[in-house]
Amino acid sequence: MASFYLAVLLIALTPCGLDAVEDNDRFDCYPDDGATQQLCEARGCMWEETNNNKAPKCFYCPDAAFSLSVARTATGTVLWDTSVGGFTFSDQFLQISTKLPSSYVYGFGEHERNKFRHNMDWWTWGMFTRDEAPGPPSNGVNKNLYGMHPFYLCVEDDGKAHGVLLLNSNAMEVVLQPTPAMTFRTVGGILDFYMFLGDGPEDVVRQYTEFVGRPFMPPYWGLGFQLCKWGYGSLDVVKDVVKEMQEYNIPHDVQYGDIDYMERQMDFTIDPVNYQGLPEFVDQIRRDGMRYVIILDPAITTNETAPYPPYTNGTALDVWIKSGEDTSQPLTGKVWPYYPGTVVDPNAEWDYKVENYNAYSVFPDYFHADIDRWWGEFIKDFYKTLKFDGLWIDMNEPTNFVHGSVTGCSDNKWDNPPYMPKILGPNIYSKTLCMNSIHGGTEHYNTHSLYGWSQAEPTQRALREVTGKRGIVFGRSTFPSAGHFEGHWLGDNTAKWDHLHKSIIGMLDFGLFGMPYVGADICGFWDDATPDMCHRWMQLGAFYPFSRNHNYEGGAPQHPTHWDGVIADAARDALQTRYTFLPFLYTLFYQAHTQGSTVVRSLMHEFIEDKLTWSIDRQFLWGPALLVSPVLDQGEMDVNAYFPKGRWYDYYSVNSDRQGREVAGSDQGRSLLLPCDMDCIPVHIRGGHVIPTQEHANTTVYSRRKPLGLIVALDEAGRASGSLFWDEGEDIDTIGSNSYRMISFNVAESTLDITVERNGYTPDPELRYETIQVFGSPTMPTDVTVNGQSVASENIVKKTADKVRDYGKT
Ligand SMILES: *[C@@H]1O[C@H](CO)[C@@H](O)[C@H](O)[C@H]1NC(C)=O
Ligand SMILES: *[C@@H]1O[C@H](CO)[C@@H](O)[C@H](O)[C@H]1NC(C)=O
Ligand SMILES: *[C@@H]1O[C@H](CO)[C@@H](O)[C@H](O)[C@H]1NC(C)=O
Repeated sequence: MASFYLAVLLIALTPCGLDAVEDNDRFDCYPDDGATQQLCEARGCMWEETNNNKAPKCFYCPDAAFSLSVARTATGTVLWDTSVGGFTFSDQFLQISTKLPSSYVYGFGEHERNKFRHNMDWWTWGMFTRDEAPGPPSNGVNKNLYGMHPFYLCVEDDGKAHGVLLLNSNAMEVVLQPTPAMTFRTVGGILDFYMFLGDGPEDVVRQYTEFVGRPFMPPYWGLGFQLCKWGYGSLDVVKDVVKEMQEYNIPHDVQYGDIDYMERQMDFTIDPVNYQGLPEFVDQIRRDGMRYVIILDPAITTNETAPYPPYTNGTALDVWIKSGEDTSQPLTGKVWPYYPGTVVDPNAEWDYKVENYNAYSVFPDYFHADIDRWWGEFIKDFYKTLKFDGLWIDMNEPTNFVHGSVTGCSDNKWDNPPYMPKILGPNIYSKTLCMNSIHGGTEHYNTHSLYGWSQAEPTQRALREVTGKRGIVFGRSTFPSAGHFEGHWLGDNTAKWDHLHKSIIGMLDFGLFGMPYVGADICGFWDDATPDMCHRWMQLGAFYPFSRNHNYEGGAPQHPTHWDGVIADAARDALQTRYTFLPFLYTLFYQAHTQGSTVVRSLMHEFIEDKLTWSIDRQFLWGPALLVSPVLDQGEMDVNAYFPKGRWYDYYSVNSDRQGREVAGSDQGRSLLLPCDMDCIPVHIRGGHVIPTQEHANTTVYSRRKPLGLIVALDEAGRASGSLFWDEGEDIDTIGSNSYRMISFNVAESTLDITVERNGYTPDPELRYETIQVFGSPTMPTDVTVNGQSVASENIVKKTADKVRDYGKT
């Protein structure tokens, strides 16, 4: 009887039952500001003080009655368990919480983070696309950046991995807590979850991209080095930069026009004074093997006095986002374009400029049925004037320099939702459009984060139609499946040292999101890079899949030949190494495009059995085989690099007599301190792989005509394999039309077999191998066969014998 009485008493005291709820097991019932015991209890939730200021005082009682769980059949691991309470499904507030099987969580974007692996100690990540530069939390809010990716990867304790997508475009937040557990809170739509069961991280990305769309196949030149600056000032400056790059013999495939090539930043115009002669210049650099990419922004000025067809035609087609107050009228805001006749005071404050220089703009609705007739036609029309090779779509969060519209926003349920997720404010419409505007047939509230994504496909379509080539589109604001149409750069970063490290985290994140064509602005966008920072950043950036140096209008020049060429040698060396590996990088993109694999890859994707790799984010792999361990800190002249189990070979020992070629042949992983002076960026090749290479040149047009090489890095059993994808380089859908060559390489028992698996493309000039380097062999390879025929004596080995070198253990 006594115990019965006690139980009754406790139930009366704690609505959650007999057991106290530990801090880590509490799920926040009052995420809004201003929680009090009274307000909490009015919600039917539990209030209890705690010394942990991150844990909620107001929390749900666990609720097993209304819950679901998902378990992995093979292992019994419970991947999801929502019995923790808090499930809410209402008009503008949907919430679900789940326990997780481990605290190894990755993904969600777009954000700046200190680690690739998430911190589970009560962190809230808002997601809603926003024109916001990467940086630390602002007013206690982790900044939501340009893109929205409600997708995470979780590695279970036994090394199996799964991914989860919440396919929902409304403003949302995710709370991570040490239970381990997470809570999704979104302000609209439905709870549309997709689970990808792996069972390793690489499988998860393959399954995810099978669902959202495989990454597009970039053209070969898109893997070359790219150079941009907002505010070169004039075409003469651009010409000088390009000439200098050639004089210093630094590989340089792509030159850019940022918004200053335009007349007053208006799409489909060229500044007639500062960029007079741009089309002829573009023709000339294209003849030299280079490419030109231009920026386009969505906002279209309404205030031209001379005819401006993009506005008048768009108005005739009625393609603009409409005002929520009067749906017959477009919503007007302000972005770049200036009023006609503007004389700009370069010292004017931002607000003064917006008020006085920036014209009223309208925003195209890229969901509009006639969008190709407008956007697509203007792209094609402009191509008649300027022969661009790629399109860079910026400002498509969409950004707006006035909040909501030129007249602000009315008080309505979309612009003042009952719950504001932890995104930057102060309002949900800050820096963008009113949420009640009509976009894609619904309130912008629902489609806001789809803006950049919706622009990508029509842009890619128009680019391909007008150039007849694949080209590249890359955008700032992205959403799941954007990788099928475009690449991404990591936005307006800053010339500061920690942004070298964070760029690796950003690349790994976008790898998970199925967007492998990614990189950060090399040497930083905002602020001025110092020569030593830019030097290290050029070395790191040489290993970004999308390798571009770019900075802002007021910033000091930072192209690799600046500073009297002080960093030019290091930049040239690193980029020449990049170009040497381009056949391998291109093959990785083919694999990403056809199988959904990652290109830049976290070490854990390859070494999941080694738990140390689950937290590594200062090194990264290209595919399975090439390990990059950059110097990321000022003044450092060595790198603490981790080598997982297996054989690893120092790439540079190929080209020098440096000793210690095999760095870490071992049964288990180990860390090594690698000396690394300013000339060095460590690159190691993993035993078991054959890497196709090619001699570098000033552009990919010329490198593609040079001899190929093979690096054969043997594993413990003396085996290695690899492949090479080769096509014309920029034709559309060479894979679908079988217009490519696929070659596989296999080494076993001292024989290298080269097999042409598919021969749908004949390069001109024909590919030839000049150098075959074998790492890790105590003896020379004795035989080479091509398609089963021994060719050793005549064609390959003799010709290259002097270059076939033994890199056996030393
Ligand atoms: C690249 O080198 C080739 C000759 O090797 C030359 O014809 C071409 O003009 C060069 N291109 C550039 C952009 O320097
Ligand atoms: C610019 O156009 C808007 C209409 O979109 C108009 O209301 C405004 O007065 C114009 N401003 C100027 C300075 O012409
Ligand atoms: C814009 O509209 C005008 C008038 O209808 C037409 O002549 C012109 O071809 C259109 N331009 C584009 C690029 O659609």
